Amino acid sequence: MSVSRRSLLGIAGAGAVAGGVGYLAAERQTVPGGVDAPVPFHGRHQAGIVTPAQDRMHFVSLDVTTTKRSELVDLLREWTIAAQRMTEGQEAAPGGAVGGGPYAPPKDTGEALGLPASGLTLTCGLGGSLFDDRFGLADRKPAALADLPAFPKDKLDPARSGGDLCIQACANDPQVAVHAIRNLIRIGFGAVSVRWSQLGFGRTSSTTRGQATPRNLFGFKDGTNNPKAEDVALLDQQVWVNDGSWMTGGSYLVARRIRMHIEIWDRTSLDEQEAIIGRSKGEGAPLGAVAEFDPLDFSSDAIALDAHVRLAHSTQLGGVKILRRGYNFVDGSDGVGHLDAGLFFIGFQRDPHAQFVPMQMALATKDRMFEYIQHTGSALFAIPPGVRPGGYWADTLLD
Ligand code: HEM
Repeated sequence: MSVSRRSLLGIAGAGAVAGGVGYLAAERQTVPGGVDAPVPFHGRHQAGIVTPAQDRMHFVSLDVTTTKRSELVDLLREWTIAAQRMTEGQEAAPGGAVGGGPYAPPKDTGEALGLPASGLTLTCGLGGSLFDDRFGLADRKPAALADLPAFPKDKLDPARSGGDLCIQACANDPQVAVHAIRNLIRIGFGAVSVRWSQLGFGRTSSTTRGQATPRNLFGFKDGTNNPKAEDVALLDQQVWVNDGSWMTGGSYLVARRIRMHIEIWDRTSLDEQEAIIGRSKGEGAPLGAVAEFDPLDFSSDAIALDAHVRLAHSTQLGGVKILRRGYNFVDGSDGVGHLDAGLFFIGFQRDPHAQFVPMQMALATKDRMFEYIQHTGSALFAIPPGVRPGGYWADTLLD
């Protein structure tokens, strides 16, 4: 019998989510079913892309340690079953934390007992390195999964970059996201090892029209001009792969760990901050306009030539857009008097070499914001299409 985490302890997650009450009260009205509700796992696309961006994230990149293709397939099957269960608010496996008898390690680590599904989504991706000679996948590697080029001013740490597989967990409760990643790692023991991982504590984008625009650690609204789930035709054009290959219905995820030198930013005048972004700090309106969602006017010089929103705008880049879905992070301090803070950028697109690469190249060469940021980690993953009932992650590639 499968026991839901909530029914096991007979309580709702109300106590567990205290601390973000104001935010949650507002979000409850804008997220269908509320922030505690489950998000459907199956579908044409994986959840966690156009799903209304949840407020918390735990992202993990893994290296595959087994060299047997059958063990890789077994792992993806087992992960898929556990992932579906956890997104429904259940324990990772039947028996769970306390029902498996005293003599075996529990099949669920237990820290999410009593917590609701919390909008958990689990999104699985495959890195370019998976397509080497270990699993016979070399001739199935999409051109879009070729390594990203080096960008000017990159200071990438190899220990925070790359990986054979990734799992993005997003939820409205950090404990639920961490629990999900931890249990998938536990299931993968002997077949995968953790390469790097990142926690994010506040969303920096909105992905539906109903959501309020959140703010990043520079204090600016972020996600205003993001494609939204309602823009179905735009998403078909910019986000979803539709080439008849095993990736049809999937997308490509670019992750960039971007350190933000917030102490220097905090000593910069408001005028200067607004000029760098190209929007006002309070309302989030384009400079020269009044309201947040007013159009950007590049014919006047209100928005500087080296302003972030001008350089990243589709009109300056031959029409390309990216679905941004990043998170704020603070990973303690750097040992020399600063917070190790920044933005964990996540962007979804149908071809990173046609979308992320020209955008990032324009930013890295011209964006004045680069005096205040540094890219310290990078990864690119193919996100296979959504799973059908009975299927498993990446089955269109591996079956
Ligand atoms: C720490 C790094 C970054 C910060 C603080 C930042 C901040 C912002 C802010 C405040 C906006 C305006 C609000 C909005 O329309 O969403 C914006 C817009 C945007 N950013 Fe960034 N951003 C960062 C990195 C990036 C990166 C790496 C990319 C992609 C390579 C990117 C692409 C965009 C795009 C496409 C827009 C929308 C432009 C438009 O169409 O108006 N950003 N960003």
